[in-house]
Amino acid sequence: IDISNFRSASDGVITIDPGYKNTGSCESAITFLDGEKGILRYRGYSIEELAEKADFLEVAYLLIFGELPTKEQNDKFHDDIKAQSVVDEDIKKIIEAFPKSAHPMGVISSLTSALTAFNPSSVNVNSEAEMYKSVVKIMGKFPVLVAWTYRRKAGLPLDYGDNSLGYVENILKMMFSQPNACYVQNKILVDALDKLLILHADHEQNCSTSTVRITGSSHAGLFASLSAGISALWGPLHGGANQAVLEMLEAIKEDGGDTKKYMAKAKDKEDPFRLMGFGHRVYKNFDPRAKIIKKAADDVLGSLGVEDPVLDIAKGLEKEALEDQYFVDRKLYPNVDFYSGIIYRGMGIPTDMFTVMFALGRLPGWIAQWREMRLNKEPIGRPRQIYTGATLRPFVPVEER
Ligand code: ACO
Repeated sequence: IDISNFRSASDGVITIDPGYKNTGSCESAITFLDGEKGILRYRGYSIEELAEKADFLEVAYLLIFGELPTKEQNDKFHDDIKAQSVVDEDIKKIIEAFPKSAHPMGVISSLTSALTAFNPSSVNVNSEAEMYKSVVKIMGKFPVLVAWTYRRKAGLPLDYGDNSLGYVENILKMMFSQPNACYVQNKILVDALDKLLILHADHEQNCSTSTVRITGSSHAGLFASLSAGISALWGPLHGGANQAVLEMLEAIKEDGGDTKKYMAKAKDKEDPFRLMGFGHRVYKNFDPRAKIIKKAADDVLGSLGVEDPVLDIAKGLEKEALEDQYFVDRKLYPNVDFYSGIIYRGMGIPTDMFTVMFALGRLPGWIAQWREMRLNKEPIGRPRQIYTGATLRPFVPVEER
């Protein structure tokens, strides 16, 4: 069947599939996912092997350009990104104009969009060479914007990092270094963040990635498409779940720590409460990323010697849910967000920055998907609908209504 011609060939039939639960929007060679078996691969490499052996920028290169970089390609990619790790000083004025209470996701989405204004040449991008320039620009500038979003809220000066450091080390330095204070890198935290970013780097056609692809399909530029994707990621049913998990755990603690009470609420169909960090649209088995993150969380918290009642509540909920028939029947397992928030909390990252950290990790995946969509010359995204409104009716003047 020629799907592109299906509607006229089938006399106007439209498939309706709310939430696109079974509708493919594209062909893609980037990420393979089998939710029943709990398999995730980037460009054919297992997520387990990448998380163990690769670093985040190698994975970014793999996702975006299709192959692991050679030594020369890797060095060039690093250098080109470093050369872009400054942003126009006027961006500081925009950041300072936001109220300090602004949610960091709103700020980072706006700043990403603002980059379009400061880099007009990035808007009309067609050739692979132009795409490469946009890719290294955003890979260089986005961590600065993330760090500044955090620093502004924390009342710290908007400084640059240190390009002699690795990409992920530099992100932590840009966020946490303080004036007149010695900054010491913690290797365990750098490794844990590297792993977290790799695990978040792509997840095929989820809500935010589909948003990036559909926005870019109108030939809006990369930065505008990414800004739309960041907004989509913000919601608590998607990337915002990592913030929601921690808020839920804290609320349970404040309420006396009774996890059984919250398990009952989650199962009560009259109660809108859901156990945040459990369940996934495509994983009906343990999320393979969650398995890796769970171990990273234990390593980080163990090595930092963190003792936190909120983490005990998380462990209790996890145990109860895995043994509960309601969760077993519906195949609701802890997802990646259940554990990522716990690590971010251990690292000292504030709760409302969690989803921004997710965006930092997802950046290469969004870029890869946008680039693939453009190189495949995909048509503009334009779903159909079944109209259920009024039939033709005459206009009634306001005085007669
Ligand atoms: N707590 C309690 N019940 C749940 C939960 C949960 N977290 N998740 C799903 N269910 C129940 C639903 O009530 C439904 O029950 P029913 O069959 O008796 O009506 C059944 O499980 C199926 O749920 P759906 O909402 O149909 O599943 P869907 O695939 O549409 O939703 C989603 C997936 C949005 C992730 C959902 O599981 C959820 O809301 N989880 C909590 C939020 C969360 O953690 N989101 C992060 C996802 S990972 C990511 O985006 C990176």
